[in-house]
Amino acid sequence: MGKAKKLFIKTYGCQMNVYDSERMGSALAADGYVPADSPKDADLVILNTCHIREKAAEKVYSELGRLKPLSEAKAASGGQMTVAVAGCVAQAEGGEILSRQPMVDLVVGPQAYHRLPGMVARARGGEGAQIDTEFPAEDKFDHLPEAPKARRAPAAFLTVQEGCDKFCAFCVVPYTRGSEVSRPAEKVLAEARGLVERGVVEITLLGQNVNAYHGAGPDGADWSLARLIRELAKIEGLERLRYTTSHPNDMTEDLIATHGDEPKLMPYLHLPVQAGSDRVLKAMNRRHDAASYIRLIERIRAARPDIAISGDFITGFPGEMDADFEATMALVREVRYASAYSFKYSPRPGTPAAEAEQVPEGQKAERLARLQALLTEQQTAFQQACIGRTLPVLIEKPGRHPGQMVGRSPYLQAVHLDCDPGLTGRIVDVTIEKASANSLSGVLAA
Ligand code: SAH
Ligand code: SF4
Ligand code: F3S
Repeated sequence: MGKAKKLFIKTYGCQMNVYDSERMGSALAADGYVPADSPKDADLVILNTCHIREKAAEKVYSELGRLKPLSEAKAASGGQMTVAVAGCVAQAEGGEILSRQPMVDLVVGPQAYHRLPGMVARARGGEGAQIDTEFPAEDKFDHLPEAPKARRAPAAFLTVQEGCDKFCAFCVVPYTRGSEVSRPAEKVLAEARGLVERGVVEITLLGQNVNAYHGAGPDGADWSLARLIRELAKIEGLERLRYTTSHPNDMTEDLIATHGDEPKLMPYLHLPVQAGSDRVLKAMNRRHDAASYIRLIERIRAARPDIAISGDFITGFPGEMDADFEATMALVREVRYASAYSFKYSPRPGTPAAEAEQVPEGQKAERLARLQALLTEQQTAFQQACIGRTLPVLIEKPGRHPGQMVGRSPYLQAVHLDCDPGLTGRIVDVTIEKASANSLSGVLAA
């Protein structure tokens, strides 16, 4: 083995990319790559990209532009910087990336990460640009090592399901991640046990449609997400479970009931609805209407009254009229979100809605501003309502000021407090004293 080479991974997009980046990092560690703090001087730079909206892909090309002088400097000093584009832009654009930015040495799609170390070795060995955007039959997770044993973050992600068969009219995910695949339950349980042995106390189960999980169980039956959560909850030392992202149509009775009776399942649910107009929901191919979503939220709240609901919204989907947008505002007022993400519709090449007549940019922006004002108002109200409460907080890492630590509440809020760093990984009671739009602060309860 030669001397250690430096690896820098920049991650865009969703939590699944965060998880994938960690596993790519551990696969390359076996070839002698150690993490670098910046791309400057790195031997290998991986951009793990997102294709969900226009700006996401553009960011990648500007980042490549910024890497260029660094790569030239590295070459001038006799080194070699290999540049890889991974993730959903890699899957969607493939060889296009090489034509647009010839400095890229390799392009690898999300289902081919177990082949990355070989591709890197060939690219560095002078075999030219490498591309792999196949959806191979073998399970990449069987060939990718888990995160290195030394890592001791108290909260971790664990991918249980990948891909999507829903084909919402606006979305690229079914094309970039492929069709829905669930990992076998035993593999998920084993990975979770391994994480807990390394000090993890909170696991967020990931999937593009995580509540559609239907992995093979050790008993030969297909396990639902509810079943998987109940079994994971039996792992001693694992204190908290979350899952994301869910589709309303896959919220089963059993999963709703689990929110009521499994104390380790945290009272937070990200349940995107995208729009409140039945006409728009139909055009989006979401396959449910506004009333059924609202009834669903009511049933979830009946099972777990304090649950924090979060959502995603799109403004200016093709065909959206003023009255449709008002229906979205009405739905938001009715549901009352604890947090939410909202976006202007962005036409994605290859998706059905990109071909339709578009809503003018100004209108999309105006609606987004009004929606965001309402959502911010609701989020602030939820945050303010926490003042005076004592919440169990998982201490995760040092905060901005010396002596300050940051943790997470059950509702996924960041909580700042002064406490002993030795409490990292512990769940402590914190009395909340202040709230801002995005975080809380408080003191250790007596
Ligand atoms: N699987 C999840 C969403 C994954 S994408 C689900 O079904 O809810 C995350 C969010 O990005 C979506 O919920 C949607 O609000 C937004 N999004 C996806 N495609 C978009 C597009 N073309 N333009 C704008 N926002 C989009
Ligand atoms: Fe995209 Fe719809 Fe699948 Fe979510 S359910 S990933 S929005 S196609
Ligand atoms: Fe983006 Fe791909 Fe995730 S498009 S949101 S990185 S699945």
